[in-house]
Amino acid sequence: MLSSLHQEHLNIAKLLDLLKRKQSLIEHEQKVCYRLIRDVVDYLSEVSDKRHHPKEDMIYEYYLKYRVVDGEVGHRLKEEHDKLVEAGAELKEMVEMILMDAVIPLDQFTAKLQQFIELQEKHMDYEEAVIFPRLREALTEDDWRHLEQNWQIHSNADPLFGPEVAQHFRDLAGRLAL
Ligand SMILES: [Fe+2]
Ligand SMILES: [Fe+2]
Repeated sequence: MLSSLHQEHLNIAKLLDLLKRKQSLIEHEQKVCYRLIRDVVDYLSEVSDKRHHPKEDMIYEYYLKYRVVDGEVGHRLKEEHDKLVEAGAELKEMVEMILMDAVIPLDQFTAKLQQFIELQEKHMDYEEAVIFPRLREALTEDDWRHLEQNWQIHSNADPLFGPEVAQHFRDLAGRLAL
């Protein structure tokens, strides 16, 4: 399960790299395809916010419930997930406005984009450096089996990186050469 989460981080990082390239193009006053940016943001809210983070939350809640955990751990993970949902919604709203030809100052947009990318990256770094090692150490084979079963009910295939690319992510898949 941790290795699937790690693979999903690599997938997310790929998309963030694409966003970074777009950001730099916009900053150099080059033309970019905003529809593609919207597709990335859509993917992240469809998959990251609805599958990846809930899976992490489920594992983490189990860990907090069944293991003796020192006080400082707290609920930072869940709070960061909520923040990412919010940041994604704000970014999506801005892209949609640009796509509808509303006048949005581009520096305002790139600032929002950069903030979103940084938030995502910092969050993944935190999980890889702090949360995953803790889970790896504390949870047994039995725990993972139990968690895997719990998760089965949610497990629809990934619409972009999974075996079949969903219609609405075909352009994006083409750009990533999947
Ligand atoms: Fe997360
Ligand atoms: Fe994650």
